[in-house]
Amino acid sequence: MTTLAAPAHLLHITDTHLFANRDGRLLNVNTYDALAAVLADALQVPPDAIVATGDLAQDGTAAAYGHLTTLLETVTAVCDRFPPVYWLPGNHDVPPVMRTMLVRPPMRPVPEAIIGNWYVILLDSTVPEEVSGRLSDEELVRLDAGLARHADHPALICLHHNPLAVGARWMDEIGLTNAAAFFEVLDRHPHVRAVLWGHVHQEIDTERHGVRLLASPSTCIQFKPKASEFSLDQRAPGYRRVWLYPDGRLETQVLYIQGFTGCADVDATGY
Ligand SMILES: [Fe+2]
Repeated sequence: MTTLAAPAHLLHITDTHLFANRDGRLLNVNTYDALAAVLADALQVPPDAIVATGDLAQDGTAAAYGHLTTLLETVTAVCDRFPPVYWLPGNHDVPPVMRTMLVRPPMRPVPEAIIGNWYVILLDSTVPEEVSGRLSDEELVRLDAGLARHADHPALICLHHNPLAVGARWMDEIGLTNAAAFFEVLDRHPHVRAVLWGHVHQEIDTERHGVRLLASPSTCIQFKPKASEFSLDQRAPGYRRVWLYPDGRLETQVLYIQGFTGCADVDATGY
């Protein structure tokens, strides 16, 4: 009889856009309350680990990152397994402030990890003062070397910016500008199973050369898919669960929370 080994359960949260003031609103949505509601929903099924892929603060302040750490500390304390929280920066973040503030458990300030038996690497695709992203030569070398060192593990790559066009002109102009170089590295490592990102505030689930390409909704506001200009979607705050099987298979589910009363300003023309 064959026994299927249990998967590691990863919770993906992204684009939390917190402010120094817990009452801060992004296009009318209180981002702290939205994140708290997402975590209350998500942690009903405690994960083995959490990954947060950037735009964690809207204003880049130490206080915003302090709120994130304290909230995650509070909500994960009731989980049996006390899941670590891995993180990476987005264009709204200030990496030096993050590196100072996102260090206390459950925050795990490391550039890579083994989750279950998967190799997970966290990339920094931010460019100072730019909304679009780019992987530096150093990050591409680190990715290549990390994948080579962990060739016997299925690999998951996490970053903030979208490495492929999502069919919405304004978002495609602010994605990863050197995606070809990124995929060139991936193509050298057949054990890469998936790429996971934020930035586009919507769910995407596609594939390239057998590699699953996944974006997840924001924990606050969502962008309208396929829109040529900036426009908001009415969808509720959301998150993604990913189950990483030891044999390299992956299952995933996106969830939007029910009953959240904060409504985004759909007439907004930017953020
Ligand atoms: Fe964002």
